Amino acid sequence: MHKVIFDTDPGVDDALALYYLHRHPEVDLLAITTVFGNAPVSLTTRNALFLKQEWHIPAPVAKGAAGPLGRGGTEHWPVHIHGHDGLGNIGVPEAVGAPDPRPAHRLIIDLVRAHPGEVTLVAVARMTNLALALREAPEIAGLVKQVILMGGAFAVPGNVTPAAEANIFGDAQAADEVFGAPWPVLAIGLDVTRRVEMTRAEIEALGAESPDLALLRDLSLDYVGFYETLGHRGMVVHDCCACVALTDPGLFATRAARVRVLSGGIGTGMTVAAPQDMTFPPSDWDNAALQSYAEGIDPEAVLDRIRRVITA
Ligand code: BDR
Ligand code: CA
Repeated sequence: MHKVIFDTDPGVDDALALYYLHRHPEVDLLAITTVFGNAPVSLTTRNALFLKQEWHIPAPVAKGAAGPLGRGGTEHWPVHIHGHDGLGNIGVPEAVGAPDPRPAHRLIIDLVRAHPGEVTLVAVARMTNLALALREAPEIAGLVKQVILMGGAFAVPGNVTPAAEANIFGDAQAADEVFGAPWPVLAIGLDVTRRVEMTRAEIEALGAESPDLALLRDLSLDYVGFYETLGHRGMVVHDCCACVALTDPGLFATRAARVRVLSGGIGTGMTVAAPQDMTFPPSDWDNAALQSYAEGIDPEAVLDRIRRVITA
């Protein structure tokens, strides 16, 4: 079993990822921690509580950071992608249960200490909660089994600027601290996630299978429309790729590298890798931990895995 803490900003593709983790027979979902990103943290937390209620997810929800550690604006929410409510404008109810009393980073610390060497952090939003946990309890880096994050653009353009992917751009300082820490990080970035597209027809068909999947369909349709306007064949399932990388790592090709995140100037949020298989003169990358990022994926196999898990 994979013990997982899911750090998220639901978020349409976050919702699919959450449902995948919830339904996967080899995943023990310990907690859902929220952060700002696709919407303010008040909304992403409400959305997580709503999905927990609708899908009968036992894991607690803890509210995390409202803004970045470093410089950065939070005033422009991506309402044209995730809707004004962060879940595709379905009209999420206001009061749907209470979050855990602890802030997200404290719950992460507590759970990692309670299960030393066993917990995987699947982080699919700004890395702020992870960086706060590291700052408060640096020793957890040695207690976490693995960090799998959706973020970065290594050999491809970004999606919020030509240089940067949204989760990294939204808190470049936090991301640099997460990549730099001595815990094993696998980054699943736009290099691979952009290749995994779920078509409108497929989402419509899935929605007819169960009430759970009807909700997933309803909250996904506007997001599908956004990606269609960009020329994609359907919704890009960014965050669920990170979950499949946990359960089916063989569907990805990875490269070992030290990764730094640029802050300041037009390159803010750019993930720059120093691959282990290359030699460089002494540089600012040398003290960062050796991590890995995905450079290849089997998109059809990933989609097939997602379908099987969510319809089982
Ligand atoms: C990432 O940004 C968010 O909009 C998505 O949920 C995903 O985590 C993609 O760049
Ligand atoms: Ca996300």
